[in-house]
Amino acid sequence: MTAQLIDGNALSKQVRAEVAQRAAALVAKSGKKPGLAVVLVGDNPASQVYVRNKVKACEDVGFHSVLEKYEAAMTEAELLARVEALNNDPSIHGILVQLPLPKHIDDHKVIEAISPAKDVDGFAVESAGALMVGEPGFKACTPYGCMKMLESIGMKNLRGKHAVVIGRSNIVGKPMAMMLLAADATVTVCHSGTADLAAITRQADVIVAAVGKRKVLTADMVKPGAVVIDVGMNRNDEGKLCGDVDFDGVKEVAGWITPVPGGVGPMTITMLLVNTMESAERAFG
Ligand code: GUN
Repeated sequence: MTAQLIDGNALSKQVRAEVAQRAAALVAKSGKKPGLAVVLVGDNPASQVYVRNKVKACEDVGFHSVLEKYEAAMTEAELLARVEALNNDPSIHGILVQLPLPKHIDDHKVIEAISPAKDVDGFAVESAGALMVGEPGFKACTPYGCMKMLESIGMKNLRGKHAVVIGRSNIVGKPMAMMLLAADATVTVCHSGTADLAAITRQADVIVAAVGKRKVLTADMVKPGAVVIDVGMNRNDEGKLCGDVDFDGVKEVAGWITPVPGGVGPMTITMLLVNTMESAERAFG
């Protein structure tokens, strides 16, 4: 192995400790805790695990959190009414409606109903637009976590670097490209319609793989010394968690690489805490 590991668990621990300190300082100053509301509709097993982890993470850093669970039969109007109530609740600084929602509910409509001041997922159009034009707003947690990982290895400023993002989703690929651009990188976004992916990734100093498919990036596609960030969460033939990157091959070529599990995964919830912390600090001046 030549690549160094970017350890998402260790970095998360460090960032969460900083958040816990900020939360304690806010309590000392204002008597108020940062508050996150997590809303789950239905009984998707993966979502149940995610929301439990989010609530637990809040407790660990001294936040106030509420978990609202509703039956899958909840109507869209009922959910919108709950979002509105949370928008008006002064003890809540961040609102997260866990996706996916049941089919009869329009997730876009629900996300847009969240006040931009509390959109700690950063999924709403206003948050995405703020990122695009460089205005203050909440950044989507997964790409924000990737940026934090780059920063942790001394790559906060990417001037003169070519960053290649594989994937163009609204929640990872597109905001990732915007954040890399804001860090001064030259950015290429590749996707399923890209003609010669390997020819492009071989030019990259930084590669972010966010497709949701195994072995999208193999050793022959990576320039020696490049930084490889793996956002993928897949299962291999043995049912083991794996990313989009052929880790065993790519680690022999890359300079830095994130593992799966233990890489980007823990950073997503960490950045949710960072966003909620920031929202609370804004609310209390
Ligand atoms: N479902 C899977 N990941 C996420 C996330 O980061 N936020 C929300 N709201 N739903 C999700």
